[in-house]
Amino acid sequence: MTLAKVDASAWAELEAAAADSQSAFRYLNLCSVDADGRPQARMVVLRRVEVARRLLEIHTDVRSAKWQEISADPLVTILGFGPQPKVQLRLQGSAELHGPASECAAEAWSLLPRSTRSTYMGGPPGDDIGERSASEGRIADADGQAFFGVLIFRAETLDWFQLRHADNRRAVFAYDHLGPLTSSRWVNP
Ligand SMILES: Cc1cc2nc3c(=O)[nH]c(=O)nc-3n(C[C@H](O)[C@H](O)[C@H](O)COP(=O)(O)O)c2cc1C
Repeated sequence: MTLAKVDASAWAELEAAAADSQSAFRYLNLCSVDADGRPQARMVVLRRVEVARRLLEIHTDVRSAKWQEISADPLVTILGFGPQPKVQLRLQGSAELHGPASECAAEAWSLLPRSTRSTYMGGPPGDDIGERSASEGRIADADGQAFFGVLIFRAETLDWFQLRHADNRRAVFAYDHLGPLTSSRWVNP
């Protein structure tokens, strides 16, 4: 496989995953650094991909720790793994945050099913629930939107790794600000 094909297939997999809840790359690990310099990681759902511009869209609660962390430091890493074939995608780049008042968040919210909207209606993520049941803490739909944010990740590099029986393979790719591939090379795994 050529480098160009490796890059194209990795992005095709990501694009497909945004539309397919069964895809391995549907769930990605989003990693940021907190105010103490400590690495933080959490799973997120891949909601949309724009291959040409190397963008990934993720939805989250603006009251979450990640939103605060990424507001302070937009440099993030996204890690994904597909089991067949065993491929790891390690994307580095920066995240742009679009809060509840933004057009971007309003549009994404308008496309969400009710069940997903309801996940933004509880109390602040990470706060104690105490004696209340989770459902008692729910608030109205309109208020859920007040906590809904969109994170747009722009990849600057992709580190692609394929685990094989003997000859593992690894390639690294870089993209310019608008998305086109600027460099690609095979490296030692
Ligand atoms: C499979 C899976 C998918 C998840 N998807 C999201 C998501 O799309 N957005 C999100 O904010 N949290 C998602 N979560 C929850 C996060 O992993 C995390 O626990 C939560 O957002 C709090 O993270 P934080 O305190 O680092 O902000 C998901 C969890 C799992 C297990």
